[in-house]
Amino acid sequence: MPTPTPILVTGGAGFIGSHTVVELLGAGHAVVVLDNFANSKPSVLERMRRLAGRDFTFVEGDAHDAACLAALFQHHPITAVLHFAGLKAVGESTQVPLAYYQHNVAGTLNLLEAMRGAGCRNLVFSSSATVYGDPAQVPIREDFPRSAANPYGRSKTMVEDICRDLALSEPGWHIALLRYFNPVGAHPTGLLGEDPASIPNNLMPYLLKVAAGQHPFLEVFGQDYATPDGTGVRDYLHVVDLAQGHVAALNALPRLDGAVPINLGTGRGCSVLEMIQAMEKAVGRPIPWRFAPRRPGDIAIYYADPALAREILGWEASRDLETMCRDGWTWAQSEAAGA
Ligand code: WQD
Repeated sequence: MPTPTPILVTGGAGFIGSHTVVELLGAGHAVVVLDNFANSKPSVLERMRRLAGRDFTFVEGDAHDAACLAALFQHHPITAVLHFAGLKAVGESTQVPLAYYQHNVAGTLNLLEAMRGAGCRNLVFSSSATVYGDPAQVPIREDFPRSAANPYGRSKTMVEDICRDLALSEPGWHIALLRYFNPVGAHPTGLLGEDPASIPNNLMPYLLKVAAGQHPFLEVFGQDYATPDGTGVRDYLHVVDLAQGHVAALNALPRLDGAVPINLGTGRGCSVLEMIQAMEKAVGRPIPWRFAPRRPGDIAIYYADPALAREILGWEASRDLETMCRDGWTWAQSEAAGA
């Protein structure tokens, strides 16, 4: 059987990237991973190989560095790119917007130039549901207006528009703009998971640290939202479901004409209190929490209409909240976390 031509995964050592590389290898793809370990650790690479039972090529470098990208495309006949590398903290983006535009927008411009120069016109881009801002209604469909409310969301909106303009300017581009809702959980083996470099802002990783006794309690930001129990509602999605959505998007690229936005979510909303309850069931004991003021910029309710992913990719999320919490807890207790 001929050696398959490689897929480039930028940020492939990160939370979503590492899970996706394992799924790609399992599907028989050859993979080149590019990562600078800004938000990941070298120790994850061996665990990825062990999980997949297959090897992959690793290149240490910045996915926004034009020289690094030129050398990589010169050495590897890349046929498609999954682009995860980038900065992704909403709050941080309001403090250092230039870094977010430099990495996320200028960096992706460098990647697109390198791809174009190498004749590679197949891209799965890691976009975000943050591009929608505060939606007028839910569930959120891809044709809803975009109104990002922070530099992170605006950087994703800009890249989507760049991809759309590029695809309109010349034929042959196949681009999936995957808008993630809230990725959570971990690989069921406990070998891969979210390992944030700093204190996590997001609900699930923080909740897991409280459950593990690393923080005294969880603050529930706001109790007076227009939601059933007054706390924020989100569309939490198991990271393995999300990874499998990327493999489905890669397989669908030849059928995508131009740049196509696709939501990756479950289509179900879950409140903060419901998440705490599900995690307490997974952990087997109460988790300390208390109400706190609303977090600036937070939106009340937010979940996807996943119909287009089902129709175009033949993909839908299959793992429930109990599984997300159980796998997240397995990871939080594993020696791999923090290794
Ligand atoms: C979820 C809910 C909080 C922490 C962010 C990014 C988004 C995407 C996913 C990249 C909200 C509440 C949280 C805590 C809490 N990332 N919460 N106490 O804000 O929906 O989305 O992550 O694409 O771009 O914005 O996720 O996990 O921070 O918050 O009560 O300590 O949990 O108010 O209702 P969010 P989150």
